[in-house]
Amino acid sequence: MKPYQPATLAAQGLGWIDEATKAIVPPLHVSTTYIRDADNQYRSGYSYGRNGSPAFAQPEALLTQLECGAAALTFASGMAAASAVFLALKPGDHVVASQVMYWALRKWLQGAVKEWGVSVDFVDGSSTDAIAAAVIPGKTKLIWMETPANPLWSITDIAAAAEIAHRSEARLAIDSTVATPVLTRPLELGADIVMHSATKYLNGHSDVIAGALVTFRQDEFWKRITEVRINNGAILGTFEAWLLQRGLRTLYLRVERCCCSAQAIAEHFVGHPRVAAVLYPGLPDHPNHAIAARQMQGGFGGMLSICVKGGAQAAIDTAARTRLWKRATSLGGVESLVEHRASVEGPGTPAPPELLRLSVGIEDVADLIDDLEEALAGT
Ligand SMILES: Cc1ncc(COP(=O)(O)O)c(C=O)c1O
Repeated sequence: MKPYQPATLAAQGLGWIDEATKAIVPPLHVSTTYIRDADNQYRSGYSYGRNGSPAFAQPEALLTQLECGAAALTFASGMAAASAVFLALKPGDHVVASQVMYWALRKWLQGAVKEWGVSVDFVDGSSTDAIAAAVIPGKTKLIWMETPANPLWSITDIAAAAEIAHRSEARLAIDSTVATPVLTRPLELGADIVMHSATKYLNGHSDVIAGALVTFRQDEFWKRITEVRINNGAILGTFEAWLLQRGLRTLYLRVERCCCSAQAIAEHFVGHPRVAAVLYPGLPDHPNHAIAARQMQGGFGGMLSICVKGGAQAAIDTAARTRLWKRATSLGGVESLVEHRASVEGPGTPAPPELLRLSVGIEDVADLIDDLEEALAGT
């Protein structure tokens, strides 16, 4: 039989049915502990909730399939997932990371990570040459890239970065939060690990903080990451796991809608008299459009940024005038959000002061455009 398409697997949550009751929606698995067999074994595979739970097993199995990986782990947040990868490194290891990335992770990498002897060099992640030049053979153990990267939406050529990593026996990890498996499957392009803030599109309803990693192979490094999760205890709550599984079932519909609307909004505001620039990889003049077109299928994501003429205050005032776009941080939910990114990231941010980040939701796109037009008109 022909294998089902990912959208089908997601919609049906892998077709799970409860054998005892025939329910098609999974129950909430809240138990923290599991019965040991009389001969002292744990044949169910579960012993204690921090080590693993049927609550996580469902979204992990689905994400493994959607990302075409060998295994997945969910975490208490995207930061817990990302930091587990770095905590699995050893003192003396070197990392090459993209300059443009989720700001809190960059801050953590610039600070705490150094203290236990892991060094990190930040490079332009959209330049394959810059990534290659930063690798120290024998010492670089990890290349960490975010693509599309917050908040400029620059794109890393994943296949080229994977080749560079593997030439030096390093691993490539991709923060694919913005692309989601709907648009890009980094493991198929050669990455070793894919990371998601599942808080964003995977859950999609701004009501769960969660993270996930999916691995191409279950090797020693993956074992170390699994141990980090068990020992640091940064596990997903059982209700959050249940909500995440429910959110994943509409992932394909939501992402398709967000992409279509983001493309329409980006095209609408190009050349607008009050907009200095529109940053969106789906625009032909985006510096990385060609790579994005090659490695993203079905759209360029639901995230874009606009630079408002008149500087930081004009951008902040524009956000203040929106009625439909909600002034809030985060991204990937069904409701559209607007944020003055430099205010969040502070000194050292790659975000220009006049930049507004837009997370496009699933509302009617004409309403979104009208609201932004009105907000800009007051500048
Ligand atoms: C691209 C990206 N990666 C990682 C994170 C961190 O995820 P969380 O907030 O779930 O810890 C975020 C959060 O905004 C993000 O946007």
